[in-house]
Amino acid sequence: MTDLATFAAGLPKAELHLHIEGSLEPELMFALAARNGIAIPFANVDEVRAAYEFSNLQDFLDIYYRGADVLRTQADFRDLALAYFDRAAADTVRHAEIFFDPQTHTARGVPMAAVIEGLLEGMAEAETRHGLTSRLILCFLRHLDEADAFSTLEAAMPWLDRIAGVGLDSSEMGHPPEKFARVFARAVDLGLARVAHAGEEGPPDYVVQALDVLKIDRLDHGNRAMEDPSLVTRLARSGMALTVCPLSNLKLCVVPHIDAHPIRAMLAAGLRATVNSDDPAYFGGYINDNFRAIAPQLSRADLVTLARNSFLGSFLDDAAVTAALAEIDAYAAAHP
Ligand code: ADE
Ligand code: ZN
Repeated sequence: MTDLATFAAGLPKAELHLHIEGSLEPELMFALAARNGIAIPFANVDEVRAAYEFSNLQDFLDIYYRGADVLRTQADFRDLALAYFDRAAADTVRHAEIFFDPQTHTARGVPMAAVIEGLLEGMAEAETRHGLTSRLILCFLRHLDEADAFSTLEAAMPWLDRIAGVGLDSSEMGHPPEKFARVFARAVDLGLARVAHAGEEGPPDYVVQALDVLKIDRLDHGNRAMEDPSLVTRLARSGMALTVCPLSNLKLCVVPHIDAHPIRAMLAAGLRATVNSDDPAYFGGYINDNFRAIAPQLSRADLVTLARNSFLGSFLDDAAVTAALAEIDAYAAAHP
C-alpha cells in the first residue's frame, strides 16, 4: 500500500452508501443456502465470483436480486449485517447508515419483521462488539410502482422510530425521481430523512428532480451532475453530501477506468463528496479498498476532507459529528 492509502485506511470514517444485501459474500450465500435448504445455480464460491462481470447497472441488479433469495429468516439478516459490520470496523468505520430493500424480501414472502428485527439485532451487536453506530435507510425499488412503495412504507410503520430515512434505488433509467413524489412527501410528513440514487446512469435532470421534487437531504452517486455546471454550483453552495462509490462506478462501467473517476474534480468543485462501497461483495471491495483505489489521484488533505465529509453528511447529531471530527484531527496530527 502507498503511504497515502495506509493513511486513508486508518482514518476514522462513516459509510453512507452501503446496500446491506450487496454485502452478501459468496461464502455466506452458500452457508445460508445450506441452512435454508435452497439450491443455488453455482457449484462453488469461485463460480459465483466469476459471474460478477457487469456492463451496466441492470446486469448487476439481475444477479444481486437472485443472490438475495437465500435471505429468509431474522437470523439470516442478523448474520448478514454482522458480517458487514465486522468488515467495516476493520476498516475504521465508526458509523454506518445502511440501505435495505424490503420489497426484495417481502415479495418472496419474507415478513418485514424478520428483515428489520434481524438488521436491528446485528446493529445492536455491532455497537457492543466494535462501538460502531448505525442507522437504517429503507429504500424503495424504483422499477416498482408508487403504490408498492406506499404499502412498503405502511408495512414498516411499527419500526418507524428505528428508521432514519427513506431512499430510492434499483434501475435508474426510465424511472425518474418524480415517479415517487407523493411517497417522499409522506416521508417528509413522517419526519423521515430522504436520500435518492440519482445521476449514477441517469441524466443531470434526475438529480434536479431528486432535489426539487423529493427534497433529498443527501445525494447517492450524483456523478452525472458533473455534466451541468449550474447544478454543481447549486450542490456545492447548499453543502449537499454526495455518496460516491468509486469501485462500483468502475464495475458498472460508469467510468471507463479508475483514473477517470471524477472524485478529485468533485472535491475541486467544492462538492461535499464522500467515499463508499455500495455493494462490496459484488464490486471488489469494502470502503478501504475504495479509498485505496482513488488514493493515487488525491492529496493527504483530500483524504482528510473525504473523512470529514462522511460525518458532516451523516444523520448523526451535532455532538457526535463534532466528536468524530476531533478524532479525525487527532489521527491526522498523530500521522504527520
Ligand atoms: N441497488 C444496489 N446497488 C445499487 C446501485 N449502485 N444503484 C442502484 N440500485 C442499487
Ligand atoms: Zn447504491
